[in-house]
Amino acid sequence: MASKTLAEVSQHKSSSSCWVIIQNKVYDVTEFLPEHPGGAEIILKYGGRDATGVYEPIHPPDALKKNLPASKHLGSLTQESIRVIDEQNDNREKTKDELRVEQARKKMPPLDRILSLADMEIVARQVLSYKALAYYSSAADDEFTNRENARAFLRFFFKPRVMRPVSFCDPSTTILGFRSSIPVFVSGAALAKLGHPDGEANITRGARQGDIIQMVSSNASLSYAEIAQAADPAQTLFFQLYKHKDDEIAVKRIQEVESLGYKALFLTVDAIVAGNRESDIRSPWVLEEQENGPLYFNQEEKKPEAGLNVFGTAGALVANDDRDMTWEKTIPWLRSITKLPVVVKGIQCVEDAVLAVEAGVDGILLSNHGGRQLEFSLPPMEVLYALRRERPDVFDRVEVYIDGGVQRGTDVVKALCLGAKAVGLGRPFLYAQSAYGTAGVSKLVEILQREILTAMRLLGASSIHELRPEMIQRVDWEPRRASKL
Ligand code: GLV
Repeated sequence: MASKTLAEVSQHKSSSSCWVIIQNKVYDVTEFLPEHPGGAEIILKYGGRDATGVYEPIHPPDALKKNLPASKHLGSLTQESIRVIDEQNDNREKTKDELRVEQARKKMPPLDRILSLADMEIVARQVLSYKALAYYSSAADDEFTNRENARAFLRFFFKPRVMRPVSFCDPSTTILGFRSSIPVFVSGAALAKLGHPDGEANITRGARQGDIIQMVSSNASLSYAEIAQAADPAQTLFFQLYKHKDDEIAVKRIQEVESLGYKALFLTVDAIVAGNRESDIRSPWVLEEQENGPLYFNQEEKKPEAGLNVFGTAGALVANDDRDMTWEKTIPWLRSITKLPVVVKGIQCVEDAVLAVEAGVDGILLSNHGGRQLEFSLPPMEVLYALRRERPDVFDRVEVYIDGGVQRGTDVVKALCLGAKAVGLGRPFLYAQSAYGTAGVSKLVEILQREILTAMRLLGASSIHELRPEMIQRVDWEPRRASKL
C-alpha cells in the first residue's frame, strides 16, 4: 500500500469520505462514523488530519484493530508528512490548561509527605488536566450520593475491646480464594491514561508492590493484554465486565481476558446508561472558553450546536452495553461461556443481593458506581448494614464486598465488621497514579495498610476473622468532619 501524504488525507474530511491519522497511520473511518460510541461529530472534527493527541488518552491501542476492518487501515504516512506532523507538534502552542498543569507538576510535595488519601487527592486535583479531573471526580446530578457514600461511614462507631494481645496482627485475607495483603482491592475505573501516560499499568505495578488485587475495567485505556503484561505472572487481576449488547462480541471479550489469565469477572449492572455527570459534560466547553473567551447566546442562531454531547465521557463508554440483562437470562448465559468466578457489581439493595445469591453468583459488590450513576441510590455502607440486619445468611453464601466513599482504613475495618470480605476503591487509585505514577499507587496501599493495622490493634482484633458485628454500632448522629479538600 502506497504511503499517504498529508495533502491526500486532507481531501477526506466529510461524512462521505472521512480519513484520520493516528500515530502516523491513516484510517478510513467513513463507515465507522455512525457506529462510533462517542458520536460522529468528534471524528469529523478531526477528519482529514492528525487525531493522535485526542485519540490516545481515551482509547486502548488495540481499539482500531478491534473495531475497524483491515481494509480500512490505509497504511502509513510518507516520511515527509511524518516530519511535518512532528514539526507541527513541536511548535504547537500549549493551551492554558496544559501550562497550568506543567507548573503544578513542578510543585508537587515529596511522596513521603503524603499521609492520607485526602492528601493524595489534594495533589491530584492540582496536577490533573481539567478534563481528567472533571471525568474522574464527577458524579450524578447534584452529587449527593457521591458525598453521602463517604458520609455514611461517619454514622458507624467502634466498640473497641481492650486487653487483647495484638502485637501480632495480620490484616491479610483472600478474595475469591486469591491472596491480598489487606482487605482492599482496586475497583474498576476507566481511562487511567487521562491522568498519566502509563495509565492502568501504574496501578498494576503498584498493586503488585502492595500485594493487592486490581480489577481492570472493560473501559481501560490500555489494552487488556498490555495490563496483563505489566503484571507479575503470579499477580491476580480481576476483570470488570461491561456486557456488550451483542452476545458474540461479549463472548470474545470474555475469552480474551480469560486467555490472558484474568481470574474473575465482575459483571457491572448499574451502568446500563450513563448517569448525568454535569461537570464532565461541561468540561469541553470550559476548556474552549478558557482559550477563546465566553460564548454568548446568539439570537440569530437557528440551528442547535452540532454534536452537542450531553452524555459525557461515560456516555460513549457504555453506549453499546446490554440494557436488557436479567437474572434469569444473563447469569446462566455467563456461566455457560466461562468457568471464571462471577461477581455482580452494582447491587444497591437487599432484595437484589438476595436475587443475586439465588442466581448462583460467587460474590456481590454493593456499589452505586461511586455515586456516578443513579443519584440518591443508598450508600453501599448503609446497604451493607441493612443486609447484615435483614439477611445475615447472605454472608455465609457468597462473598460480599463494597466500594464507594472509602477514605480511611477505619472505613475498611467498619465494613469488615459488618461482614464485607473486602472493600474496593476506585477514584483514590486514579488520583494516586495520576499524581505519582506507580509509586503513588503503592504509597496508597501502604497508607491503608498502616491505618487498617492501627485500627485493628486498637479495636482488639489480631486477624480479620476477629472483626465482628458486635464491634460496631450505628448511631443516629453524625460527627462533623472539616474537609481538608
Ligand atoms: C464508567 O463506567 C464511569 O463511571 O465513568
